[in-house]
Amino acid sequence: MTARGRFITLEGVDGAGKSTHAAWIADTLRAAGLSVITTREPGGTPLGEILRGLVLSESMTLDTETLLMFAARCEHVAQVIEPALARGDWVVCDRYTDATYAYQGGGRQLGAQRVAVLEQWMQPSLQPDRTWLFDVPLELARARLADAREPDRFEREEAAFFERTRSAYHARAQAQPERFRIVDSSQPMPQVRAQLESELKALIQASRAL
Ligand code: TYD
Repeated sequence: MTARGRFITLEGVDGAGKSTHAAWIADTLRAAGLSVITTREPGGTPLGEILRGLVLSESMTLDTETLLMFAARCEHVAQVIEPALARGDWVVCDRYTDATYAYQGGGRQLGAQRVAVLEQWMQPSLQPDRTWLFDVPLELARARLADAREPDRFEREEAAFFERTRSAYHARAQAQPERFRIVDSSQPMPQVRAQLESELKALIQASRAL
C-alpha cells in the first residue's frame, strides 16, 4: 500500500512573503525524491478559482465571504487535496483553514467559534501535518504590498485589520505548537531559507521513520 502523503500549508498576512517560498519548498521536497503538488486557497479547482475571483473583488456580507471560503475549500479537499494525499503525493498549499480563522475570524471579527462550526461541518475535517506561519511586523508587510500589483479587497484593508489578522494567526500557532512553525519573515531570505530547509528535512525524516 502507498504511504499517505503529507499536507503542508503556508500562512501569514498579505505581504509576509509566503508565496515566494511555496515553489522553493516544493522543489526541495522533489529533490528529496518525493512527489509533490502545489495549490492555493481560495482556489485550486476550476470552481474554486471562480469563487476566488468573487471573494477577492465583490463586496459581500461577512457570512457570505466566510461561506464562500469554505465552499471553495470543500471542492478543493474533495477534488484535489484528498486524492493527492491518498496517492502518496505531498501537498504544498498556499493558505488553508487557518486563513479563515485569521482573516474572517480575527480580521473581520467573526470570532473563532463561528469558523469552528463550519470547519466541523466540512468532512473530512482535514488538518495539515505542518503549517509554516510567515510572520512580519505590520509596517514591513504594508511596505511590501505597496510595491506589489493592484491590491485586492483584503489588501486594501486598514492597518487594524491586519493587526487583528496577525494576532489571530499567533493564537492559532500558540494553541497548536506541534503543527505550527513560525518563520520571522523580516529576516534576509538566506536565513528564512535555512530555517525552512532544516525544518523540512526533519519533516521528511519523520515521515520516513513511520
Ligand atoms: P493570497 O494568498 O494573499 O493571494 P495573493 O498572494 O495572490 O494575493 O490570498 C488571497 C486573499 O484571500 C488574502 O488576502 C487572504 C484571503 N483569504 C481569506 O480572507 N480567508 C481565507 O480563508 C483564505 C484562504 C484567504
